[in-house]
Amino acid sequence: MKIKILKNYKEVINESYKVLSEHLTKKQDLVLGLATGETMIGLYGKMVDDHKKSGIDYSRIKTFNLDEYYGLQRNHAQSYYHYMNKHLFSKVNINEKNIVFPNTLSNVDASCERYNLALEENKIDVQILGIGSNGHIGFNEPKTSFKSKTRLVELDKTTRVDNSRFFNDLEEVPTHAITMGIENILNAKKIILIASGSDKSKAISKAIDGPVTELVPASILQRHPNVEVMIDIEAGKNLKGSMNYVK
Ligand code: F6R
Repeated sequence: MKIKILKNYKEVINESYKVLSEHLTKKQDLVLGLATGETMIGLYGKMVDDHKKSGIDYSRIKTFNLDEYYGLQRNHAQSYYHYMNKHLFSKVNINEKNIVFPNTLSNVDASCERYNLALEENKIDVQILGIGSNGHIGFNEPKTSFKSKTRLVELDKTTRVDNSRFFNDLEEVPTHAITMGIENILNAKKIILIASGSDKSKAISKAIDGPVTELVPASILQRHPNVEVMIDIEAGKNLKGSMNYVK
């Protein structure tokens, strides 16, 4: 794992985009794995700005999103499709046909199977990941098998409480979601894990310094050959030897 601890969120995003943009410019038909959530908003902002400034071409780029709430229509204000459309898809020249999203509305088993097949046919070049305060990646909650693939999952109480900040109240937060599995995530050629703020510091230290265990899904990233971790000082404050990582 290559770990960078940066001063603040802004620098984390700048540095993450620097790495991502090298890939975006090198391979025009890059396959990108995307995450949603608060952390990623700055990154999508940078992608949009740079697309406008330098004309980075998204027309041949293919995207796979990690997860989607079960049962939310695409146009629901809290659906991840709506989020992606708002922050990225509607603002760059991506081809709608190249946007692949978990379908959570009908024939869930069959659509997860199709998602897994599509992921086998289109190996992800760069997977962007956030991390939950409980160590989840995608919506793979603690105790998820490292062999898991795309499927319907029940969300942890912690995750529903964390994400209730986007809804009117906890009751409104969906109880289930469809998520890529850990095995799908590990198939990516490169992974960029991004985290900011002290709420993530425990999860980050367990994921990086702790044992590789299904109790901390992100800990499996220690076994992936090409992971870059970009975090700010707050998120990295519990890391052992964190001084060695400061840029
Ligand atoms: C969402 C996803 C989640 C988030 C994580 C952090 O697509 O993959 O694992 O990355 O829950 O979310 P924020 O950034 O809102 O703290």
